[in-house]
Amino acid sequence: MKASFLIKFTLLAVLFLPSFALQAGFRQAAVASAHPLATEAGLTILAQGGNAFDAAVAVSATLAVVEPQGSGLGGGGFWLLRRAKDGKTILLDGRETAPTAAAQYFDQNREPPNPLPLDGPLAAGIPGLPAALLHLAQHYGRLPLSLSLQPAISVAEEGFPVGQRYLAAVKARLGTLQTSPQAAAIFLQNGRVPELGFLLRQADLAQTLRGLAKQGRAGFYLGKTAQQLVEAVKANGGLFSLEDLANYRVIERQPTQGEYRGIKIYSSTPPASGGVVLLEMLNILSGFDYPNLDAVTQKHLVVEAAKRAYRDRDAYLGDPDFVDMPLARLTSLDYAAGLRTTLRLDQALPSSAFAQGADTSHQGPNTTHFCIKDQSGNLVAATLSINQAFGSGFVAGKTGVLLNNEMDDFASRPGQPNGYGLVGGFANRIEAGKRMLSSMTPTLLETPEQIALLGTPGGSRITTMVLLGLLEFAQGGTPEQWVSKPRYHHQFLPDVVEYEAGALSETEIQALQAKGHSLKLINPPYGDMQALLWNKRNGSVTAASDPRGEGRAVVKSGP
Ligand code: DON
Repeated sequence: MKASFLIKFTLLAVLFLPSFALQAGFRQAAVASAHPLATEAGLTILAQGGNAFDAAVAVSATLAVVEPQGSGLGGGGFWLLRRAKDGKTILLDGRETAPTAAAQYFDQNREPPNPLPLDGPLAAGIPGLPAALLHLAQHYGRLPLSLSLQPAISVAEEGFPVGQRYLAAVKARLGTLQTSPQAAAIFLQNGRVPELGFLLRQADLAQTLRGLAKQGRAGFYLGKTAQQLVEAVKANGGLFSLEDLANYRVIERQPTQGEYRGIKIYSSTPPASGGVVLLEMLNILSGFDYPNLDAVTQKHLVVEAAKRAYRDRDAYLGDPDFVDMPLARLTSLDYAAGLRTTLRLDQALPSSAFAQGADTSHQGPNTTHFCIKDQSGNLVAATLSINQAFGSGFVAGKTGVLLNNEMDDFASRPGQPNGYGLVGGFANRIEAGKRMLSSMTPTLLETPEQIALLGTPGGSRITTMVLLGLLEFAQGGTPEQWVSKPRYHHQFLPDVVEYEAGALSETEIQALQAKGHSLKLINPPYGDMQALLWNKRNGSVTAASDPRGEGRAVVKSGP
């Protein structure tokens, strides 16, 4: 009896070995984020039995505390989710909206100011991040917010020593932070740039996070916190109303989907332009034998593809709830084939063939990205932002909430560049309740063997960074290589190839110039990519944080 049971058991075990092995692999989890404390928060929540979505709540909220220059409760973002149990893949849109009173941005000639204000509450859209955290916890997570927000609450209360990136961001926005007494009291040391290691405590923010954990929507979008937000914003020239907050909703959207050389791509969709621009670039490249071309031709093609895709971003993209966009056409292979007929291998097509130039010099170390895989194979790639470093620089009353300055992501006037040199049109003009167009590109790549997650901050350069990371993935590179590889960029306007030191050799520079490209060295380097690679066959996970930043990627084996 016993022996026959043993034989049966052994047979079963052998029969099911591959699926056992896969299950074992599923048990590896990973978190990669732009700050060690945020990564730790994600790992803590996973260890407490939370899934990747609970961990995403913890990481997003902790980043709001430890990287206040990059994202926060006063901002928004996009969370790309893959649920293991049914393969559902969605983009959670927690983008800010223009206040209902947005008409007040316009003058008698129905023109908004150009540029839009970058400082103070007039620069802010209605925050989406708190609603996204609630949605994640309620619809995808397993743990109550009282647990998943706890790491953020603890760090906000106990404080953490600030690093170099924080200080660089303070230096960049010092004047703005000094004009908001609340912001100055929290983020500065005696009204000045703090010393390295300064213990940043945020008691008010801890209180607001606690309210969110206890009361849900009522802890931020209704009641006392909402009242404080509106009063402080209005008293300082901003346009928020109680209705704007009460009406704020996150939206689940179908990600942009496509394929490049056998890699399935899932990425952001408008109001984030990233996925559409990424796919358009890849579709253009797919008509060439890209992997076997010489390096100069490869780079020339990437630049020419970017030029065309960013031109379409400027011309067509905005909030899908307000404008009709030819998304199916823009992401079709036929359309890319048409664009390729304008592309020459020996010569750059000048952007001046289309429009005027702009300046892209204001892209700082703000916004943030993280990637999570849990033991069950749930996945999150999220890019969050308050736009420029420290957003609007305005903290509303006693809420501890630093408001974004995302209104600048609207196209103020057709043809006029925003803070990232992006030139938008009618599709991205300001309207009440509308979401401003974003470049965020949280992305999931899938082959029969592997799944990769990647994304980065970097304003308009986000999408070309993700493209370069994806091309490395396609060539078999590791997350370490995707995040560290020197970068180059083109965004149609200005008509310049921007590049980091080491991205182009001297010979490549000369060859690209000979084709008619203008080149500009960008210093310091840009981006803060976080990436993760899951080998579905053997179950291994690798993850990496951009060496340009202070982030941390950790892979954990399950119990
Ligand atoms: O949504 C966007 O495209 C911008 N608000 C992102 C800003 C950003 O990445 C700044 N980083 N350097």
